[in-house]
Amino acid sequence: MMAEGSLIVVGTGIRLAQQCTPEARDAIESADVVFAVVPDAVAEHWLGTLNSNLVSLQSLYGGERTRAETYEEMTEAILSGVRDAKRVCAVFYGHPGVFVTPSHEAVRRARTEGFDAHLLPGISAEDCLYADLGVDPGRLGCQSYEATDFIVNERKIDTTATLIIWQIAVAGDLTFRVLEPDARRLGVLAEVLLEDYPPDHNVIVYEAATLPVTAAKMQTLPLRDLYDAEVSQVSTLYVPPLTRPKPSQARLALLKERLG
Ligand SMILES: C[S@@+](CC[C@H](N)C(=O)[O-])C[C@H]1O[C@@H](n2cnc3c(N)ncnc32)[C@H](O)[C@@H]1O
Repeated sequence: MMAEGSLIVVGTGIRLAQQCTPEARDAIESADVVFAVVPDAVAEHWLGTLNSNLVSLQSLYGGERTRAETYEEMTEAILSGVRDAKRVCAVFYGHPGVFVTPSHEAVRRARTEGFDAHLLPGISAEDCLYADLGVDPGRLGCQSYEATDFIVNERKIDTTATLIIWQIAVAGDLTFRVLEPDARRLGVLAEVLLEDYPPDHNVIVYEAATLPVTAAKMQTLPLRDLYDAEVSQVSTLYVPPLTRPKPSQARLALLKERLG
């Protein structure tokens, strides 16, 4: 038998109110308690109009904590409500399962402890990027990486596909405490990209609009100038493909051989 208490994890989308799905909204409205990790007071206020029993976890960022410590505290705060036999809704901005650690971890722990727990899809920054920049990931393929992961690990980049790099404000921060951008760390990200792309390859620093009254920001600049870009905590880097993919004659022959 399922333990009493449950968890549903939802996203608000990026453009407040407008991109929150009906099922996410229902979950927020019908919860006993809502834990929220949303970026600003406007978003918190809006959530408060849907459910007055709102607990903001945003203040757990910063101070002396590493991001891992913050995520652990968020996860345990959410779980505490579930263990108290409440119907808990945890709300993150964007898609709650895209580049978000405590959402997946809270669902995993809740299930391990015998609670009903699931995560609903939402509209992510990448979804907005596809719409605003007119990119279809199915046309030439698409790779998505977190910026520090991209710098530190020896990735094999496919320059014939789109490349999207998340969290460029904290690119290369190995303390996992910093929240602000730094031109030197951005410069290192550019140097890593220059291993595969030429200096004059144009990239876009992208910020989706977060309110109905604001517009998306798109800064186009050559890779060599990336260190100089205006970057915020919600900037994502779009690197377009450099060349077209080359068809593999061997695989075409294989298909022909197998299928006639
Ligand atoms: C912790 S992740 C959260 C992503 C979020 N869950 C989503 O579904 O988009 C934060 C990163 O998402 C990207 N991001 C968040 N808001 C954005 C926006 N308004 N425009 C572009 N990218 C954004 C940035 O790369 C940022 O550093």
